[in-house]
Amino acid sequence: MTLFDRVFGGNDAVYGLTEGAIDGAIAQYGEDKAVSFPNTAYSLPCYYAVTGTKVTTLKELKEALGVVKTLMTREKRLNDAFMSGVATALCAEFIEVLKYIDGATPYEEPCYGHLADAVIRELGVPLVTGDIPGVAVILGAAPTTEEGVALVKSYQAQGILVTLVGGIIDQVAEAGMKTGANVRVIPLGKDVTAVIHVVSVALRAALIFGNVKPGDAGTLMKYTMDRVPAFVNAFKPLDDVIVACGAGAIALGFPVVTNETENIFRVPKSLIVQEDVSKFNATSLEARDIKIKITNIDIPVAFASAFEGEIIRRKDMQVEFDGSRVDCAELVQTCDASEVEDHKITVVGPEVDDMELGSKNSIAYVVKVAGKNMQPDFEPVIERKFHNYINCIEGVYHTGQRDMQRIRISIDAFNAGFKIKHIGEVLYASVKNEFDAVVDKCEVVIYTDPAECTRVRHEVAIPIFDKRDERLDTLTDESVDVYYSCILCQAFSPSHVCVVTPERLGLCGAVSWLDAKATHQLDPNGPCQVITKERPIDENLGSYEDVDEAVQKFSQGALEHVTLYSIMQDPMTSCGCFECICGIEPFSNGVVIANREYAGMTPLGMTFPEMASMTGGGVQTPGFMGHGKHFISSKKFMKAEGGIERIVWMPKELKEFVAERLNKTAQELYGIENFTDMIGDETVAEDPETLVAFLTEKGHPALGMDPMM
Ligand code: SF4
Ligand code: NI
Ligand code: NI
Repeated sequence: MTLFDRVFGGNDAVYGLTEGAIDGAIAQYGEDKAVSFPNTAYSLPCYYAVTGTKVTTLKELKEALGVVKTLMTREKRLNDAFMSGVATALCAEFIEVLKYIDGATPYEEPCYGHLADAVIRELGVPLVTGDIPGVAVILGAAPTTEEGVALVKSYQAQGILVTLVGGIIDQVAEAGMKTGANVRVIPLGKDVTAVIHVVSVALRAALIFGNVKPGDAGTLMKYTMDRVPAFVNAFKPLDDVIVACGAGAIALGFPVVTNETENIFRVPKSLIVQEDVSKFNATSLEARDIKIKITNIDIPVAFASAFEGEIIRRKDMQVEFDGSRVDCAELVQTCDASEVEDHKITVVGPEVDDMELGSKNSIAYVVKVAGKNMQPDFEPVIERKFHNYINCIEGVYHTGQRDMQRIRISIDAFNAGFKIKHIGEVLYASVKNEFDAVVDKCEVVIYTDPAECTRVRHEVAIPIFDKRDERLDTLTDESVDVYYSCILCQAFSPSHVCVVTPERLGLCGAVSWLDAKATHQLDPNGPCQVITKERPIDENLGSYEDVDEAVQKFSQGALEHVTLYSIMQDPMTSCGCFECICGIEPFSNGVVIANREYAGMTPLGMTFPEMASMTGGGVQTPGFMGHGKHFISSKKFMKAEGGIERIVWMPKELKEFVAERLNKTAQELYGIENFTDMIGDETVAEDPETLVAFLTEKGHPALGMDPMM
């Protein structure tokens, strides 16, 4: 048998199954029955991405199968094999979507099945920053449970997102390993067709971030090949169906590594035989050209970004520190070089061994840094990273910041020998590693003595926080001489540029003006560059000749004009990883804002994913704009159209999140008290008529404003 015979044979088999399944469904439900995956604006995402056609009913699904058939040419050329691989993948998507008929939930814990658009948007930032350096797709059962679990853990320790299909899921469960999106190990499903759910992620990434036009299969495959760092590990025995799926993966640029030696054909860099499963990791990374940032820290538990989302429940915790109940603080302090002893870690007060099981304690850590290029403005930038650093420790959980942080250390971590001083090791190593351009020396003092914590909190930390807040309040777009560009997201959105100003943070919510300034200082040729603002065109729109020139340059000519304060005229582009999106609501002359976490309907008749699909990919879409949560309370939020007075609706949760700051801004700008009470949410209205009635009753100012279009 040749490779062609195996691919074509596998493709034919899957096609036959798909045809049977669709016919069966039509016989059962009738051809007008709706078919869709939940929480996506992209219909059947793979079929839509490849062909540009949205399938909505069984009748259309049957027609789509006819289109798939045209890909299944049988000449013995490489391209025919690849297209048959793609056809196999599309058939898998059809089989999978049938499982979701009538709103069924075919996947049970721990399996995920279809992944929502929101999951892909969340992956945007970590993928561009290299925090998630790659995506592994593991298929089938490893020779032994130990080998399978070791492989999964090896990827997890590197921060790689691992998706599992088939027998490996049971192996991982048998070993008692925690899985889930929060620890970056995602079991998709046990049928081989479940592999389509990760392909769907890759193809939607191209549509969401890459502005690839649905139906442009050539550009689509180039995008996944160049920009989605995925690869496949397939355990033997490989049947023809898996081989055909593998051809599809290779067509998308994803190499396949297997331990199958029988009846297999090697394709350099694409289909690789590696008999030793313990070498799958190294072989895969080499084939996909993935580089791993190594942070070696001397602690008794693992340290990897994959553990960032890990949650420690009360019953699993050894001890807890809680700034909302007792005095806690976390602080970076710039010192003179003579005051800092590099890598010195001191614990003042009891160690974990001296604390009672399940007890609540005080903790305050002061990270003293010194460096020629260090500026006090970088202190909060470094401090804000503590959350990530401490969370990356396996078995340690951190939330909050400043003097409101909360930390839990798990019983498992404690039993492994984890101590308070190891928090110091982690802070030291991470700060030195990430901020080496500004931090020459770093020393950590950790206080657990309650009286010392009280002193540090009230006498040292809080006065510093207050000073910083005063400084932040005076940081306005007018008060600074330069803005910064950010092009980190160009890894996925090649023409996208964020212009970051003091009053407008990056749309991902993760890059403030201070962050951009620090990033520029740390890496002068990196993603954040200085943009001067010496030649204003229109202050109200926030347009500048300098800004236009910068975006032209950084978008390689794709963008000509960008305004900072308008969503109608030359609005800033969106990459796809925005925290929120706002869109015009014509009946009220206002805008509706939805956040990524919101799963319900908005008065625009669109969900978040549907609104989000209107923009992204680095293109300008007047009337729709992605932005960060904190931008909502900015005095510059669509200032050109009248500002925050235009906001008529937000999900309740988001409204509560921004209430304090938004109300303060409304009070300062317009003298309105408790502005958020005038703004609708899903408990008030999910359609425009009810919303307008509510706004009328509340006397919402937008109703009296000029129409936006
Ligand atoms: Fe991406 Fe903009 Fe955030 Fe930079 S600021 S990471 S370009 S969204
Ligand atoms: Ni106190
Ligand atoms: Ni982005």
